[in-house]
Order: sequence, then C-alpha cells, then structure tokens
Amino acid sequence: MTIARLGYLGLQPQEAEAWKSFGSDLLGAMSVEGEGDSVYLKIDDHPFRLVVDKGEEDKLAFVGWEVDDAASYEQTIAALEAYGSIVTRGDEAGAKKRCVREYCVSADPAGNPFEVYYGRTGVGGEFKSPQGVSGFVTGDMGLGHYVVPAPNIDETHEFYKTVLGFGDSDDLTLPPPTEGAPEMRIVFMHAGNPRHHSIALFNFPVASGCVHLMFEVQNIDEVGACMDRMEAAHIPLMSTLGRHANDMMLSFYPIGPGGCVVEYGCGGLQLNLDTFQPTKSTVADIWGHAYAPVDV
Ligand SMILES: [Fe+2]
Repeated sequence: MTIARLGYLGLQPQEAEAWKSFGSDLLGAMSVEGEGDSVYLKIDDHPFRLVVDKGEEDKLAFVGWEVDDAASYEQTIAALEAYGSIVTRGDEAGAKKRCVREYCVSADPAGNPFEVYYGRTGVGGEFKSPQGVSGFVTGDMGLGHYVVPAPNIDETHEFYKTVLGFGDSDDLTLPPPTEGAPEMRIVFMHAGNPRHHSIALFNFPVASGCVHLMFEVQNIDEVGACMDRMEAAHIPLMSTLGRHANDMMLSFYPIGPGGCVVEYGCGGLQLNLDTFQPTKSTVADIWGHAYAPVDV
C-alpha cells in the first residue's frame, strides 16, 4: 500500500467567501488564517483540511493524498511516471500554502486532479469547534472521503489499484438514473487505513468534478445538530438522513456554496485490513437517503 490517507481538499467555487460561514457556522469547522486570502477550514489538529479559493467555475480543484515519508513519495512518483502519468513537482510557495514538505500534481485517467505529498507541517494545534462539535473522525484515517466522476470507470479503477495501491472495498451497481441510461456503478476503495473508503468512483460525468465530500463526526447527536443548523439556514439537501449499506455511515447530504455536496455523518465502518474481503452490492442504503434526482 502506497497512499496512507486523504490529507486535504481544495475547492475553487465562485462564492469562496460563502464557504467561511458555511464551514464554521454550519459544518462546525474552525475558519483559520493561512497563506493569502483563501478560506481555510480546520477540523482537527492539522493546520487545515479544506482550503477554498475563489475560482471561475464551481469545481473541486485538488485533493492531497498523504504518503508516510520521502521514500514512499519518490516511489509513488516513479509508479505514476511508469504508468505514463504526467507528474509536476510543486514549488516552495505551493508547499508552504498546503503546509507540506513536498507535493506533486497529477491526474487520474478520468481527468480528476490529485496531489501526493508527505510531511504535513504545523500539526498539533488545538481544534475547538465554534458550534461545539466534539471532534471530527480523522487521525490516521485522514479527513474523510470523496467521490469523483469516472465515465471510464474500469480504467480509472485499475489505475487507483495498481499505480496508487488502493484496495477494493465495495463495487455497487444500481438501476439506471433515467430510462435508457446505463446502470449506475460506484466503486469504493480504501487507502492504507481502516476507513471503509477514502475515495469512490462514479461512472457518470459530473460537472463539478466531485459527487460529494464526506466529513465524519463522533455521534448521531452531532449529525442531528448539524441538520438543525442546515435547516435553520435554509440549506437545500441532496439527500435526507439515512444509513448506507456498505460502510454503515449514518449521514445526510447538505449542498454547500457553489453546489458542492457534503456528506455529514457518523458511524462509518472501520476495516480490519488483514481479514477484510471486498464486497459487491446492489443496495445502497439500509434506510432513508431519499436523493434529489441525479442530473446526468
Ligand atoms: Fe459518501
């Protein structure tokens, strides 16, 4: 296993400032100062986990995959280059902004951008939620998970497995979203930590480049309190509360500024990587999760 965990996410929506209040007043993250005038959101002892810059399009700009040391970092770059990926090493200013020792930029076969880094700096600062969230579930399991579009899902799946070393968790097939469309398929994969999945691939194009990104809190009361805050702020939902069948996450899906969908949940399954066997499934939810129609 090469990739250890998901370290940070970068968004570039048109309404970047709106993320400051969405993140701190509604998600319960801390809005903190950092390089430039970006919005930085902190959810644990890392300097930040989400950085938001003003962009031209409402898109996922970058994600940072963490490897444990410089040797793993060089091995990962070598594996990407052997596969034929274009890898660009980041400069000092970029590393300073991300609070990492070194990072590089590449993209998967579906065109989804990603970064690989090692040596997060500035770790250890206190997290104190402005909304009283007791803590987000992160640590060795990283910040959460995200789901990206991959119409060429088989090729992209193979890339994450063989080049970046992700393991399969679940391969979910669902009925077509509209008559005449292909079946929906979501491939869930884990990095080198117990979180059921750190990334999932969806076999339809999605304009924002991100189907959703997930934050996990400690218990159902903190999910419920976040639902209350979203409702009071009239935030639309992509899905109501429900429990997923594969990772058992109890969650709901508010739609953030710029249309970025967030999954906010608790109780996600943690795998024993020595004994876990990947699953294939055809049922997404045990109960709930009434989704707004998928726009494909
Ligand atoms: Fe999710």
